[in-house]
This record gives sequence, structure tokens and C-alpha cells, in this order.
Amino acid sequence: SPRVFSGIQPSGGLTLGNYLGAIRRFVDMQDSGIETLYCVVDMHAITVWQDPEALRRQTRELTAGYLAAGLDPARSILFNQSQVPAHAQLAWIFNCVARLGWMNRMTQFKDKAGKNAEKASLGLYAYPALMAADILVYHATHVPVGEDQKQHVELTRDIAAKFNHDFGTEFFPMTEPVIEGAATRVMSLRDGSKKMSKSDPSDASRINMTDDADAISSKIRKARTDPDALPSEIEGLEGRPEARNLLNIYAALADTTVAEVLAEVGGQQFSEFKPKLADLAVAKLAPISTEMARLMQDPAEIDAVLRAGSERANALAAPILKRTYEIVGMVGA
Ligand code: TYM
Repeated sequence: SPRVFSGIQPSGGLTLGNYLGAIRRFVDMQDSGIETLYCVVDMHAITVWQDPEALRRQTRELTAGYLAAGLDPARSILFNQSQVPAHAQLAWIFNCVARLGWMNRMTQFKDKAGKNAEKASLGLYAYPALMAADILVYHATHVPVGEDQKQHVELTRDIAAKFNHDFGTEFFPMTEPVIEGAATRVMSLRDGSKKMSKSDPSDASRINMTDDADAISSKIRKARTDPDALPSEIEGLEGRPEARNLLNIYAALADTTVAEVLAEVGGQQFSEFKPKLADLAVAKLAPISTEMARLMQDPAEIDAVLRAGSERANALAAPILKRTYEIVGMVGA
């Protein structure tokens, strides 16, 4: 039976990219009645330095974001990774299954490590094996993610296949990435060739889920564009990455397709389109930021949600880890 797992790093604030590429899909899958687990991957976050106080705050804020966006702890298991030790335990097994050559192909490591890869942490390098463990320790069948995580989910399949082959079993499933919607890759508002990211030094490049109505609106109005009017068909977006990005965002927020949006706004100037996009974004996002702020006033309540979720996640993961140990040949009770 289908089981969904996904996670987000508490390594900074949530962006519109996280929301449209991931959280919106998380909510859809929860609402469709599938079994869903959504994790705050704090162990992934520390692959680059995190100030402990900031990590605590970001963990709670991300959880508040999950709740404010519509995840319901009665229907989804919401928890933080470090509190379910089976993730780290299975990750060690997968460190011994994954090959160095596979890790060397990971584009995110190359991007994050930059030119001076010698200074990157060993954890940053091994990160995709931990991600595989996150998914497979629940035998998750579907993983909703943005475009940038596709390679990691494919590696998860490679790890599952090699484990199954090496041990002559079919224990781990072949997980499917679910990359859906109009905004699987939201781009920077300042540069249509760069992904919108919480680590971009320019705050104007992104919409944060904590931004208020004024900030959301002003960032959209100042978003970089070209000088031309909007086309009436998708083909007309060729070579216009900034225009395409704003249309993708509009379509995703309105839960429709870019083709349908263009049928309405084709021929308009950005001066006409941007205020519409700003209004839509404020209508959809400002209530979430307001609710996040409200939830953040009661951190104990957030911690209680995580604690209850961890207990349920532990109960699902423990037997799968135990069976894995048996398959590998580890002696135990
Ligand atoms: P992270 O924390 O970088 O991002 C969380 C989710 O948001 C998506 N996303 C975007 N989608 C569209 N446009 C963007 N600009 C954008 N930026 C981010 C990401 O694709 C992701 O779905 N390795 C993962 C976290 C992780 C995970 C997992 C995910 C750890 N274990 C197991 C799924 C399953 C990461 O760093 O995501």
C-alpha cells in the first residue's frame, strides 16, 4: 500500500520554493487520504554549520509552517529526524552499500561544497545515503519533492536495488519521486537562471513564508523581468526565464496551468500582471505567515506535536530496521 515520506531542512526560513515545490504537495497527498510522514530533517541541516539556538528556532518554525500550511498531526506523522534513531542507523548500512562513484555524481554536493570541497564536512558528502535511509526506513513508496531533489531520489532507488541484489532479497521498494504542479523549480526573483533559495544572500531574491503582505507585494513588484508584453501561448516564454518563473508561480498559487493563465493575461504588460500576481500571492501566503507567527508563540505546543509524531515514526521504523539488521547478518535479540 502507498506510503508517502518527505522532508525539509530546518537550515533557514521556508521559501515560496519550499511551499510550492513541496509543502503544497504534502498537503494534497495528506488530503487524498494516503498515509503520510513529513519530517524536519535536522540531521541533514547540520551537514553545514548551524548555530544551536538558530537550529532550535528553525526546527520549530518549520514545524509551524507545516501546520499553518494545512498539515494535520492527526492525519500526517510530523516529526524531527534526530528523534528517530533508525534513520541514522539505517544510514550507516547504506553508507556501506552506496559507492563513492555514485556520491561523486551528486550535483548538489558539488554546488554546496563549492571550489573548496576539501573543507566540506563528511556528512555533506554522505548526505544522500541518509536521505535514502529517511525514505526506506519506512518503505515509503512515494516522495513528493521539487525538481532539485530528483537525483537524490534516484540514488535512493540505486541504493535499494543494490541492497536487494547484494543480499538476495526484495526487502526495499523502488520509491517513486513525485514532482508535480506548475512550480517544481521556483527561480530567484532577481535572476531567472538561479533557483530560489534560502541561502541566497539577497532577501529580495525570494519570498519567505514569514514575509508579511507588504513584503510579499513589494518583492513581486520589484521582481526582475524583461520589457516585453506577456505572450498568449507557452511557446512565447522560450528564452524568457523571468517571465516563465512569474507565470509558474501564478499558476501554482491559482492551482491551474500556465497555459490557462496565459489565455487570460496574454498581451498584458508586467505593470498590469505583477499587481495581480502580488494580490494572489498575498491572499494565499499572508494567512500562512500570520498563523505561523501565532503558533510560534507557543513553542511547547510545537514540541509536543513533534514528540507525538516521533513516537509514531519510531514505531513504524523500528521493525524495518530490525529486519534489515537480520538480513545483513547482525546478531541480536
Ligand atoms: P530542502 O530542504 O532543500 O528543500 C525542501 C523541499 O523544497 C523543495 N524546493 C523547491 N522546490 C521548487 N523550487 C524551489 N526553488 C525549491 N527549493 C526547494 C525541494 O525540492 C524539497 O522538496 N534533501 C532534501 C531534504 C530531505 C528529503 C529527505 C526530501 C532529506 N531527506 C527524504 C525527501 C525525502 C532537501 O535538502 O530539501
